[in-house]
Amino acid sequence: MSKELTKEYNRRKFLTFLGKAGIGVIAFPTFLTNCGTKSNPTISNELAEEYLDKLKKTPLKGLIPSDKDDLLLAEGLNYQTLIKWGDKISDTDTFGFNNDFICYIPLDENNPKEGLLWVNHEYTNPLFVSGFNKYEFENPREHRSKDQITKELYNVGGSIIRIKEENGTWKVIPNDAYNRRVTGHTPISLNWDEPIEGKTEVIGTNSNCSGGITPWNTFLTCEENYADCFGESEYDESNVKSHKESRYGWEQFYNYPPEHYGWVVEIEPKTGKAQKHVALGRFAHECCTLFELEDKRVVAYSGDDTNDEHLYKFVSSKAGSLKEGTLYVADTINGKWLSLDWESQPILKSKFKNQTEVLVRVREAAKLLGATELNRPEDIEIDPITGHILISLTNNKPKGDYHGSILKIEETDGAFDSLTFKASTYLAGGEESGFSCPDNLAFDLSGNLWMTSDISGDSMNREDKPYAPFKNNSLFVIPRYGEDAGKVIRVASAPRDAELTGPWFSPDGKTLFLSVQHPGELTRDLQNPTSKWPFDEDNIPKPAVVAIKGDLIEKMNFLNQI
Ligand code: FEO
Ligand code: CA
Ligand code: CA
Ligand code: CA
Repeated sequence: MSKELTKEYNRRKFLTFLGKAGIGVIAFPTFLTNCGTKSNPTISNELAEEYLDKLKKTPLKGLIPSDKDDLLLAEGLNYQTLIKWGDKISDTDTFGFNNDFICYIPLDENNPKEGLLWVNHEYTNPLFVSGFNKYEFENPREHRSKDQITKELYNVGGSIIRIKEENGTWKVIPNDAYNRRVTGHTPISLNWDEPIEGKTEVIGTNSNCSGGITPWNTFLTCEENYADCFGESEYDESNVKSHKESRYGWEQFYNYPPEHYGWVVEIEPKTGKAQKHVALGRFAHECCTLFELEDKRVVAYSGDDTNDEHLYKFVSSKAGSLKEGTLYVADTINGKWLSLDWESQPILKSKFKNQTEVLVRVREAAKLLGATELNRPEDIEIDPITGHILISLTNNKPKGDYHGSILKIEETDGAFDSLTFKASTYLAGGEESGFSCPDNLAFDLSGNLWMTSDISGDSMNREDKPYAPFKNNSLFVIPRYGEDAGKVIRVASAPRDAELTGPWFSPDGKTLFLSVQHPGELTRDLQNPTSKWPFDEDNIPKPAVVAIKGDLIEKMNFLNQI
């Protein structure tokens, strides 16, 4: 038996031993392992028994729900604050607001302990960022100044920071040549042959929620609630366009077309060079999860995080391309990927003038084709053991779905470029399962699933809302092995009003990078904030990125230690 076959055989034996017979594909697709380990771990029955025994003797002790204003961690975990809003990253730039998606790429494949961290800055709270207090005005939009909005544009987008782990502690390398910001003011090219609203280069990125990583090791950052920034173009029955005003009123001073936002943006880690991928469609992209096929073509999954919107998949026709290919939208009832190709869909030809218009107005196109309305599709991960695609459906309050669920897609014959699939519910939120409003997902290197919750600030901890029992937003783990397999265990509880976002494992699987987003977001008066986390000298809440370590992670990640 070849070495490779031996490894696979051992792994299969191990999984069978764990009572997971028939689990299917065993080898981890290398780039799915969070751009880290290229090894393919093996294990003997003796070692497997030893680890299972360890798991049994020291069961995970989860947290109970809490409304405490702190980042609480389960026994066996500890954290350090790596960087927070306003920290200097260079002589000219500071770390932006409301950090979300995190992605780490080592600078050198052989040294996983030093690399570049990308962090999304999704949106701002003007009270903190620009001193604008919406609570002071009846019509807040009318009281914005250009200076305030300029500051807000600077505080969205993303940060690239060089970090290094020394003696078990991660440090930001200050003023490193790679440290830079991409903001609402950064010029970004469109990866498309036709201009959009007359431009081939647009100004800025915003609403950067979650994201992804490409097989060629670049960052993907996704523009989600873009309509809050520069508004949205709407069309009446006669196809006449009008402008719907934004929530933040940025277009009052920066007249940028809404069509320049709502895209997947790719960032080169070392240069910060950015491009927006028009072929992936324009909608409230939560994330973009890629899979590389054997022939190097890519498949990209992305959900539109809005009530009754859709799940999309792009299949490239050329190796490594996010431009040449076909965009599909999911009909989860019939298990079909519906093509959004203008040329081959008469119904799209009757409404839109060309493929560019289909991609810019893709929500309308999807509805014409009969795509299934979903309950806010958010983060997407591919299970590294089974190849199933998991999609968080956060909630859909108008439809009575308060706690959300995780949707599972099984592509026909496990082929990611298949045009048919089977959809089912993987896990439902609610008091019985112990979580509500699933958002970010991350698999660790042993195939355990980590999940964060997104109960909105104005619904949390209120007796008149169905979310009261869950208290503060949290991080959960769903173990794959041992006695706790399948259980939802709360391992971190967020500070007041906050949401935990962007979980991302270091290449050795021993550090979990995590964003603490919008602590104290319900604050109306800076002198009396609703949270003071991370408890620094400024006495106001600040979004920050933390590095979590400890025995619990190491124990969960045992497959990676062998
Ligand atoms: Fe920005 Fe869908 O969370
Ligand atoms: Ca999110
Ligand atoms: Ca994720
Ligand atoms: Ca969310």
